[in-house]
Amino acid sequence: MRFRIRRAGGAPETPQPEEQTPAAPAGYTVEPETVEAPLSDHETALIRASVAVVEPLAADMTVYFYAILFARYPEVRSMFPPGLDAQRDRLLRALLRIVDLVDDPEKLVRFCGHLGRDHRKFGTLPAHFPAVGECLLASLARYAGPAWTQEIAAAWTKAYGAVADVMISAAEEDATVRPALWPATIVHLAHRGPGIAEVTVQPHMPYAYAAGQYASIVTPWHPRQWRYYSPANAPREDGTLTFHVRAVPGGTVSQALVHRAAVGDVVQLGAPMGDMVLDAAVHGDLLCVAGGTGLAPIRALVEEVARRGGRHQVSLFLGARTGAELYGVDDMLRMAQRHHWLTVRAAVSDEYIPGIRGSLPEVLTEYGPWYQHDVFLSGPAAMVTSARETLALGGTSADRIHYDPFDTPVLATP
Ligand SMILES: Cc1cc2nc3c(=O)[nH]c(=O)nc-3n(C[C@H](O)[C@H](O)[C@H](O)COP(=O)(O)OP(=O)(O)OC[C@H]3O[C@@H](n4cnc5c(N)ncnc54)[C@H](O)[C@@H]3O)c2cc1C
Ligand code: HEM
Repeated sequence: MRFRIRRAGGAPETPQPEEQTPAAPAGYTVEPETVEAPLSDHETALIRASVAVVEPLAADMTVYFYAILFARYPEVRSMFPPGLDAQRDRLLRALLRIVDLVDDPEKLVRFCGHLGRDHRKFGTLPAHFPAVGECLLASLARYAGPAWTQEIAAAWTKAYGAVADVMISAAEEDATVRPALWPATIVHLAHRGPGIAEVTVQPHMPYAYAAGQYASIVTPWHPRQWRYYSPANAPREDGTLTFHVRAVPGGTVSQALVHRAAVGDVVQLGAPMGDMVLDAAVHGDLLCVAGGTGLAPIRALVEEVARRGGRHQVSLFLGARTGAELYGVDDMLRMAQRHHWLTVRAAVSDEYIPGIRGSLPEVLTEYGPWYQHDVFLSGPAAMVTSARETLALGGTSADRIHYDPFDTPVLATP
């Protein structure tokens, strides 16, 4: 089965917090007037029913999908990383997300627009979409078995065409305002504590981002293996960005950045992403909570508050399990000495050292209440989750708690 790509004239999108910041990248300005549902209720029901059939077989179906995609279209193989095992399911997860959103066209368009722009860094072209659509439908048909009908196939063809249209249009529009990739030369490296490096890069072209956003990075040693890192600085006049990278045991990209990278090496940056930006805050007072290298975007936000003249009171809590893991305290204490609006407290949970003892949620409870603050959380997923729960119990509303997605960010949109 071949797909025809219907060009539906523009991919409208709702603005996002990052779009409202003056420093946010261009290319996010299209306002929807009306967005029509791509499918009828009946077609939506057919698609949902077929997903329910294949969902338990998702792992096998994904393997099959990639196998036939690479067999039928070997030219796309080189776009994907060598081993696809760990994150093979992302395409399927995106499709499930799309199925969930299918009766909310505005969110659907926003989600697919994000996906389409994000795909520019992979080198995806409009001509690749029919190939992926064909293999996707062949996989669905195979795993749905007798439940697969002509009518379901037609509904999927229509849905995939609508999604592809939005992804392609969003990518094309994005291409008119910014590059897909920004080569950036490593200009400085500093090792900070066990397995942590500060990596400063100079992009070859202006890289517009807002403090608190993150960038995807690919290194020359692991082509096509994209990972996310947050600049630890607000935008600088010289355009450099400093990332704090922790070498994860066995980690492909983090080990390379910490132990292999040298000044003069060139990495590629993808477009900045993320909504954890200062303009998302509505209250005057900010609570910032950071664990480990989660400090990076928080540090950038603190610099941004300083850049804007210190108009927020900022309470910063840094947490770690042990004193040795506590990271960046001296740097932040120096900033607190310079800025009267910043207070810094450190907490260590698994070791007795003078100062504050306890997990971050415990310490937060002790120093609260925080319900009149905007909250920025960054660090290990467990820490962010427990801090969120603690703050919610203390009365902080969910929309005032800002944090980055733990996993594939593009799947967390909207
Ligand atoms: C929005 C976002 C922002 C991020 N910002 C930063 C940042 O500023 N600094 C930073 O150092 N990292 C950051 N990360 C994590 C980073 O993107 C990588 O996931 C991490 O560097 C591991 O990549 P790797 O290639 O070295 O490991 P992989 O080769 O991908 O994984 C190797 C092994 O390590 C495990 N693993 C992967 N990530 C972690 C982790 N974070 N902790 C413990 N084990 C892990 C995997 O499960 C696997 O078993 C961020 C992630 C996201 C989603
Ligand atoms: C409806 C169509 C599609 C959907 C829903 C989709 C979804 C996704 C998602 C969710 C990811 C993970 C993104 C991330 O890690 O940041 C991804 C990655 C990727 N996609 Fe797509 N995609 C689609 C079409 C295509 C097409 C047409 C191509 C071109 C061949 C393509 C090539 C890739 C590549 C190369 C990756 C990176 C894989 C990796 O790093 O493991 N995609 N896709």
